[in-house]
Amino acid sequence: MLDVRDLTAGYATGTVLRGLSLTVAAGELLALLGRNGMGKTTLLRAVCGLRPPAPTGGSVRVAGEEVTGLPAYQVARRGVSLVPQGRRVFGSLTVEENLRIAARPGDWDLDGVWELFPRLVERRGQPAATLSGGEQQMLAIGRSLMTNPRLLLMDEPSEGLAPAVLDLITDRLGQIRGQGQAVLLAEQNVDLALALADRVCILGEAGTVAWSGPPATLRDDPPILRELVGLEKGAR
Ligand SMILES: Nc1ncnc2c1ncn2[C@@H]1O[C@H](COP(=O)(O)OP(=O)(O)OP(=O)(O)O)[C@@H](O)[C@H]1O
Ligand SMILES: [Mg+2]
Repeated sequence: MLDVRDLTAGYATGTVLRGLSLTVAAGELLALLGRNGMGKTTLLRAVCGLRPPAPTGGSVRVAGEEVTGLPAYQVARRGVSLVPQGRRVFGSLTVEENLRIAARPGDWDLDGVWELFPRLVERRGQPAATLSGGEQQMLAIGRSLMTNPRLLLMDEPSEGLAPAVLDLITDRLGQIRGQGQAVLLAEQNVDLALALADRVCILGEAGTVAWSGPPATLRDDPPILRELVGLEKGAR
């Protein structure tokens, strides 16, 4: 579903991704790990056409179609949706309005999102800005699902969540997984990533994939986790 090949991208201040390649198959969940500043957000933004960063080489294909250089709204039309780092819901719109404006035809609809996150039903008429951080994360995920994406990009959905909300979000991501769409999940939470991933890639300092493999291998290899992710499993 996603085929990134030799992608080079960065900012006026410097190149971040230097010939990065990875693929995500239909229905697969690929977890993207890496320390702060290794380029996880840069990659997700480059894939969905958001600027900056500027892609300067290589290619991004979605379902076989070249999307490199297309503006974000055109990439979105091809079935790519991003749950951005830091949520970014429309604060002045109600919960229900946030969901309705994202709607596109497909299996996911308002009822499906209410079922996934009953808490949002209680909040449906409230401005999104009044939600807690965890509720905003639920809304951001729900909004992406409403677009019925073929490829769902998620940027650190666990960031800043209290443990109980983190457990709930982990459980729900587990439900979403395997429902057909490909998922590229950028995370620093190793436990979450290993619990959900079919496969793991770790971004390294060279601006490329430093390690990739199955989650079970990574779980059994604390030195790789220490070196490339900077954390041991269970450290957070
Ligand atoms: N808008 C920008 N302008 C210039 N440099 C940027 C910009 N955004 C990110 N960078 C730089 O690009 C590099 C990669 O950043 P990026 O946000 O992609 O990392 P990340 O892996 O998502 O980190 P984190 O885990 O903290 O979210 C960092 O050195 C960062 O300082
Ligand atoms: Mg980031």
